[in-house]
Amino acid sequence: MSTQLPSNNFRILPSILSADFGKLVEEARQVDIAEIEYLHVDVMDGHFVPNLTFGPRIVESLKKHTRFKLDVHLMIEQLERQLPWFLEVQPDILTVHVEAVTHLHRAVRQIRESGIQAGVALNPATSLEAVRWVLEEVDLVLIMSVNPGFGGQQFIPASLEKIKELNRWKIEQKAHFVIEVDGGIAPDNIGAVYLAGAEYLVAGNAVFGQKDRPKAVKDLIHAVQEAQRKLGLMEI
Ligand code: DX5
Ligand code: ZN
Repeated sequence: MSTQLPSNNFRILPSILSADFGKLVEEARQVDIAEIEYLHVDVMDGHFVPNLTFGPRIVESLKKHTRFKLDVHLMIEQLERQLPWFLEVQPDILTVHVEAVTHLHRAVRQIRESGIQAGVALNPATSLEAVRWVLEEVDLVLIMSVNPGFGGQQFIPASLEKIKELNRWKIEQKAHFVIEVDGGIAPDNIGAVYLAGAEYLVAGNAVFGQKDRPKAVKDLIHAVQEAQRKLGLMEI
């Protein structure tokens, strides 16, 4: 039973999609507190998802002007064309959508060979089977808990079972990839997401949609700690 317990090693990753794009660096610095290691950066091309956001030069600027590690979530079609630009920028994590790339295994290898941690992302309707045969090659699996494209959407409840199932695979295979969850995470559901097996918890609206950003981060952390505490009580 104890091997099924979630890791204590969780992180909150603020998504700058919900920040003010006119002052991104300033906004990012508002979450410059000890608890935050990574910023989550959503790259959207207006094709794979309807929305448009940042290109590699903005990722490069964030890297230059903030102290954060960067977790770049690519929501782009024709990945092969743009991947070299993002490899060159050298974010810490680079995640590609399984629905958007034909040669997933090759893309993942390319990312790792560039010295970057490789992530694979799944839309809500995509089965876990889509990543089964690359699990040994990846550092992170991103379960989307909303349909990608916009911040501030409602968490899709079925995501919880998907996270649990992936966590079961991870335990069975003694694998080391991180489970990340993105979309609709808020203080009232983050505990359940964590208990299902997620370690990297992305939050856009729940951080940058709030006035006091450091407090918003701490509220999310406290909600996870509360879930941990309850689990501890339940086990006695
Ligand atoms: C959605 C993005 C998310 C987004 C999450 O396509 O991938 O990273 O910022 O925003 P919230 O937390 O507001 O759902
Ligand atoms: Zn994202």
